[in-house]
Amino acid sequence: MKSVKLGLAGFGTVGSGLAAILEENGEWIERRIGRRLEIATVVVRDLNKPRAAATAPGTEFTTDLTRLTTDPEIDIVVECMGGLDSAYDLIRSALEAGKHVVTANKHLLAERGPELFAIARENGTGLSFEASCAGGIPIVQTLKNSLAGDRVLEMLGILNGTANYILSEMTTKGMDFATALSKAQDLGYAEADPTFDVEGFDAAHKLCVLSRLAFGLDYPLSELPIQGITAVTPLDIELAREFGYRIKLMAHARVVDGKIEAGVHPALVKYTFLLARVGGNYNAVRVVGNAVGPVMLHGQGAGDTPTGSAVLADIIDLAKHIDRSGCDEAYRPDNTGFRNADIPLAEILPPEESRSSYYFRFTVADRPGVMAAISKSMADHSISIAQAVQKGDEQSEGVPVVFITHESRARDVAACIDEIDAMDFTVQPCVSFRIL
Ligand code: NAP
Ligand code: HSE
Repeated sequence: MKSVKLGLAGFGTVGSGLAAILEENGEWIERRIGRRLEIATVVVRDLNKPRAAATAPGTEFTTDLTRLTTDPEIDIVVECMGGLDSAYDLIRSALEAGKHVVTANKHLLAERGPELFAIARENGTGLSFEASCAGGIPIVQTLKNSLAGDRVLEMLGILNGTANYILSEMTTKGMDFATALSKAQDLGYAEADPTFDVEGFDAAHKLCVLSRLAFGLDYPLSELPIQGITAVTPLDIELAREFGYRIKLMAHARVVDGKIEAGVHPALVKYTFLLARVGGNYNAVRVVGNAVGPVMLHGQGAGDTPTGSAVLADIIDLAKHIDRSGCDEAYRPDNTGFRNADIPLAEILPPEESRSSYYFRFTVADRPGVMAAISKSMADHSISIAQAVQKGDEQSEGVPVVFITHESRARDVAACIDEIDAMDFTVQPCVSFRIL
């Protein structure tokens, strides 16, 4: 029987992970779908680079991306090269050529997903993206299908494997930030530009993609408040631990009075919460539906075969609808999860109106009246103190004073910190994180 032919753009971490699974599980997959999956063509930048996985004899390696869209034999184009412009052009051409597309590219989907979904709709082709969010965790299918009848009230996730790996290594092994990042890069977790991981942009891309599926609304990336983990110090990790928390990079979105509140921030998570136990390159997503209640998914969020597994799930889903002569004419995949319709813009809760508890670390001169002045400023800004502690003795660089607050409004928190940072006893600017 004719195999389903794949055209693969990119043979790095994800592409080679996919090839390795196909090599190992090929017969099993054939048993499931009745057809063989065959990587017909692979496009890379450098034909001489050593590769981490083998391909079947006869697989063509090329640097010419147009081979994937012009070869009539290729049924599904699999985009795992990353980046924006070349990936956009490839996916657009593939969809216009009537080919299904599977992509792991959350950056592209967050920025230009709506355009590409419209092109897929016009051409009746599939644009599937399970691997784009949370690596091997089947969160896209869960939101699109399993929880399709629920109204999602809240979504909370650890969505970046690299940032979680770095924070885990800093917390459990006392590793420094740069060493942990370098190890994450060696393990294939990080983006080509790791700034995306450590500054929170990658988690933000995923949150945009998932919010469309969860809420049926588009929260534009440009509006999303994003804070990465570069300001998280070993001192804050230790102080958080003393208060019973771990620091995690959290992506969150919820419905508040009909508006969407969302953002990406480092946050203190109570050590008894499951999310605090998610370590290494693992991700987790907690979705609260109005019927099902809370659902939690946990698994590897980055790496070769975990991500390859998610790419393969999409390929298998599409391959089931490709008949022996090519694409099944009657099959019109629902890519957006809303009968392929455009996703309307969300009404956004202004980030400064959002409410949360906070961790504050002020670094101040150790002298009479300082605690009183800080407490007064907090009271003046309607911030109620839950816990407070001064750590250590006076040093030339000041002494840390840590507060845990009750729930407060982001606007009041920002104004209070500005006021205290300007006081003459302040030695270093305040470090603040939200608390879950
Ligand atoms: P990678 O290891 O850097 O691999 C990228 C591959 O694409 C390489 O084989 C590269 O060729 C090829 N490539 C890049 N630009 C190209 C171009 N213009 N023309 C032809 N080939 C090109 O990246 P990756 O980690 O696999 O990530 C790929 C995509 O998956 C990204 O969108 C990423 O965000 C996403 N993703 C990654 C993970 C993960 O754990 N790594 C998880 C989920 C999603 P050469 O090998 O010749 O340089
Ligand atoms: N760089 C990403 C991460 C890959 O670390 O989570 C998975 O999307």
